[in-house]
Amino acid sequence: MHRPDRIIVANWKMQFTVNEAATFAQSHFVQLDQLAQENRCSIVICPSFEALYPIKPFLKGLSKLSLGAQNCSLFARGAFTSQVSMLSLAELGCTFCIIGHQEVRELHRDTDHDVANKAALACRLGVSPIICIGETLETFNNGTSRSYLEKQLTTILKFLVECARKTPAFLLAYEPIWAIGSGKTPEPSYLADVLAWIKEMLASRGLSCPLLYGGSISESTIGPLSALADLDGFLIGSASVDFQKFKNIVSWKS
Ligand code: PGA
Repeated sequence: MHRPDRIIVANWKMQFTVNEAATFAQSHFVQLDQLAQENRCSIVICPSFEALYPIKPFLKGLSKLSLGAQNCSLFARGAFTSQVSMLSLAELGCTFCIIGHQEVRELHRDTDHDVANKAALACRLGVSPIICIGETLETFNNGTSRSYLEKQLTTILKFLVECARKTPAFLLAYEPIWAIGSGKTPEPSYLADVLAWIKEMLASRGLSCPLLYGGSISESTIGPLSALADLDGFLIGSASVDFQKFKNIVSWKS
């Protein structure tokens, strides 16, 4: 059976200045595109807001790289000092937007309702939301991950049911908070269970979407997770700004 492209989201966070982002794009995008073609991957590059415009020209003519934002405002326009509108992000060529990343939830106090509303706005404006969910370390340790995730998902899925028939598609990224930037990844069997359970939750509402995993994915941790049947791709932070590491991840054969 034809396997769809593996989706690899490169979350550059605030690791590059504008000039550094442009230099990375100029130096590596053509080769990344080629590697993505050879390895049947689609890569979504998510730079910081201010780097979107300068790196856009380097995507010209490439078929496997696209542009995503790391967050957006809850509102499309208005008197909202410092906020970044999804309208502008779409104009800048973003076809994806990460919504509800843990660092945003923490820094900006985004709630599940905010996440759901931002995702709805993205869908309305033709941008695919990459919606992040994930449990805390405490929750993981006391074995109550499912109820934590269920609470997050239930709020978000309410909106997804309404948007189910709309394009573009949404994506869900499972990012356990304890795995982000920690060097720790879940056991493959644990991740397989969580993914299967998320799939069931979606199916019970007549939904399905690509499922990503994020949290400490590197060339040394990807191995055991890359063959999981329900996994459609990865959301990658620190390893995505190191070209050698990222190249090895894109070329990884499961
Ligand atoms: P990490 O980040 O790969 O550096 O753990 C993942 C993320 O925050 O999306």
